[in-house]
Amino acid sequence: MEEILSFDKISKSFPGVRALDDVSFGLMRGEVHAIVGENGAGKSTLMKILSGAYTADTGRMIFEGREIVNNSPKLSRDLGIQMIYQELNLVPELSIASNIFLGQELKQGLFVNKGEQVKRCREVLQELGLNISPNTLVKNLSIGAQQLVEIGKALSVNAKILVFDEPTSSLTDSEIQELFRIIRMLKARGVGMFYISHRLDELFEIGDRVTVLRDGKHIMTDRIENVTINGIIEAIAGRKIENLYPRNRGEVGAPMLEINHLSGEAFQDVSLVVREGEIVGMAGLIGAGRSEVAKAAFGIDKYKAGEVKIGGKTVSRHNPQKTKKAGMSLIPENRKLEGLALSLSIRENTVIANLQALNPTSMINRKREEDTVKEYVDKLNIATSSIEKRTMFLSGGTQQKVVLAKWLLGKSQVFIFDEPTRGIDVGAKNSIYELMDELANRGAAILMISSELPEILGMSDRIYVMSGGQVVGEFNASDTTQHQILELAFSNA
Ligand SMILES: Nc1ncnc2c1ncn2[C@@H]1O[C@H](COP(=O)(O)OP(=O)(O)OP(=O)(O)O)[C@@H](O)[C@H]1O
Ligand SMILES: [Mg+2]
Repeated sequence: MEEILSFDKISKSFPGVRALDDVSFGLMRGEVHAIVGENGAGKSTLMKILSGAYTADTGRMIFEGREIVNNSPKLSRDLGIQMIYQELNLVPELSIASNIFLGQELKQGLFVNKGEQVKRCREVLQELGLNISPNTLVKNLSIGAQQLVEIGKALSVNAKILVFDEPTSSLTDSEIQELFRIIRMLKARGVGMFYISHRLDELFEIGDRVTVLRDGKHIMTDRIENVTINGIIEAIAGRKIENLYPRNRGEVGAPMLEINHLSGEAFQDVSLVVREGEIVGMAGLIGAGRSEVAKAAFGIDKYKAGEVKIGGKTVSRHNPQKTKKAGMSLIPENRKLEGLALSLSIRENTVIANLQALNPTSMINRKREEDTVKEYVDKLNIATSSIEKRTMFLSGGTQQKVVLAKWLLGKSQVFIFDEPTRGIDVGAKNSIYELMDELANRGAAILMISSELPEILGMSDRIYVMSGGQVVGEFNASDTTQHQILELAFSNA
């Protein structure tokens, strides 16, 4: 196979960090090249240099045998290099056709030729094997379908290189399979693809080669068939992880969170219990109603019937302030939107939610504040030059860790974690699991909603499965399998 692009000794620094340090490797035509590494390893930065959004300090990029000089977003697009970001760049109020041709409208004289756009768009959708009308408004599409529209946009200009930066973190399993089908089709056409993901099982399904970056340095590039998942984990983390899913917790005690016959818009008659010192998993497909139950239990959404007890006491007419006071925390799924003030620093973000816990006398104790924040920055291995760094400058996964630190700092005894490790690198996953295990060991009750079955099986003591808004099964983690859980998860969908 022929190399379509190569990075040659690329370096890039930001104030206080060397984001990329002398990185060299290449991409073949028709290759799916996975790039993995810890949060803050430099993956997105490298791709932004490729797209012309950032300029490298030193180093060269060779595209089809020629050096790309004075790269810019326009130049890289003209060369056929297209980015598919996790945060989608579509306009919800416009149709699929208008979105696909946004900024590259097909014109007839001065006017946009809508008819031609719809026609071309229909062709692109057909190529993708999608049976939707070009006139559908983007806001009426699922996240997965929206992502396919982004790909359609890239296809409409005959991309030669596609970059997927964490494409699957908000897709359902069937949407992921749909994405993989399209990636295989593009591969057959000779499109070269960079594929960034923290879900390592995916590399083995879709990748041809894998490159590991760590602290901005190129660690290895190899063919997928030459590597093992443990080898990759070690290369990413730079250390051996003996036990990804720690289990040092002791006996299970009294019920701490009881949900009895709870019904709401998206779920019916849900009952479950989480006891002191216990980690309980909640499995199910996206849309099964798990987050909705969590939000109702925490008092964000209203429910129609049933009751919620925290520490044996019924909380009535509750709201998040009240549940928080009763000792419960919900670490929400959409952490970026719900959790972070981007213009504030790591320190400010973590202490805002916890001013009372840290400063019981309400006197600002800056030293104590700093020490506590530093402790969590260490524990979660948050990649930053300083706790005063504004969170908008952190990598995607690092921002997630800051939100987690903020919630963990509180003094709760009941935790609901909604997809706690989504977008988080494998080393940090391990740290988060250790923290959860430690919390449970100290007597906390933890309900963990997760779509990653290895994580559910690895961390939980017991597992509930939800499907179609109902609890359809309960297992002891030690005597069930991924297969059994999946079967139930699909049962009522
Ligand atoms: N615009 C910026 N200003 C300052 N620092 C930045 C900027 N962009 C990235 N960085 C820093 O560069 C480093 C690499 O970040 P990058 O976003 O490339 O990581 P990543 O590998 O994509 O991580 P993740 O898996 O979390 O998405 C991080 O330390 C990050 O804080
Ligand atoms: Mg990134």
